[in-house]
Amino acid sequence: MKILAIETSCDETSAALVEEKDQKVKLIKNAVATSLALHQKTGGIIPENAAREQIKFVIPVIVETFEQTSLRIEQIDAVAVTVGPGLIGSLLVGVETAKTLSFAFDKPLIAVNHLVGHIYANWIDQDSKIEFPALGLVVSGGHTDLILIKEHGKIKWLGGTRDDAAGEAFDKIGRLLDLPYPGGPAIEKRALKGNPQKFNFPRPMVHENNFDFSFSGLKTAVLRETQANELSDRIINDICASTQAAVIDVLITKTLKAIKIFKVKSVLIGGGVAANQKLRDELSAKSPVELFIPEKFLCTDNAAMIAAAACFYSESQPWQKTEAMPELYFDV
Ligand code: KG4
Ligand code: ZN
Repeated sequence: MKILAIETSCDETSAALVEEKDQKVKLIKNAVATSLALHQKTGGIIPENAAREQIKFVIPVIVETFEQTSLRIEQIDAVAVTVGPGLIGSLLVGVETAKTLSFAFDKPLIAVNHLVGHIYANWIDQDSKIEFPALGLVVSGGHTDLILIKEHGKIKWLGGTRDDAAGEAFDKIGRLLDLPYPGGPAIEKRALKGNPQKFNFPRPMVHENNFDFSFSGLKTAVLRETQANELSDRIINDICASTQAAVIDVLITKTLKAIKIFKVKSVLIGGGVAANQKLRDELSAKSPVELFIPEKFLCTDNAAMIAAAACFYSESQPWQKTEAMPELYFDV
């Protein structure tokens, strides 16, 4: 089965082609048009600007996925698209494009949840068999969630952030420190030169008996330090290292707790924050079960993960009934 997928839930515009055979997903091509430079100018995403860029990029990225392959759109088996969660204007660009392709080429249309997609990035070009039940940790700019995947299509939400997502905390703290957008990669870079023990930032809810998170207090604690200290390069590096340590500590503590309680056989992480090397290294060292982390380019938003999820959720729906669902979440 060959699937063409489109992802436009936030700021990226991406299209991808994958082939699934015997439950193995092979990536044929993933194309991403980024409007990062535009968002860097405004220090964050302005939804209207993001959607306008996506309208310009969506057809060119689809064309790009077919370039250098011998495939034509008539040869694909289905079109998959992110229907939510995300920014409504952005989602509409991908959803309406996918509906048009489904109608014009008479292809089944598969609606995919972006958060599920982040976890399914782990199936792309994966040689190891992912055993169920699996624990999923989604850590992105908009979400921080722990989920239990009993089998394909059977997901139980265990907990999530009560306020800011992990990536959102990085982005807001990056802004406080006047670092380039997005904050996550900028903080990771500065943290390499900083002392993670210099500031003892809060780790809210870390010992609570649930799988919820809270990161907004961290931002407030950093704000206090920025007001109390002269922001030298050294202090900024130390704040970055201490911030990163606090976020990773909470994520890992809760993940390890869930692994134990639910007796999972594997752990799958996904989302932009999963590109963080320190998180990858520490979780790899501490996980008692097999840990799967996508390649870094498959952690941040991409259409390949949407195509991968569609391979296992291949139930299609009529294009007439497909719509953007900005508030879509896990069924809780
Ligand atoms: O999954 P994603 O690309 O988009 C959403 O679905 O939100 O995640 C973007 C988030 C941003 O908050 C960004 O700061 C964070 O992922 N991020 C990172 C890293 N790369 C991206 N956070 C920490 N370390 C990184 N290397
Ligand atoms: Zn995402």
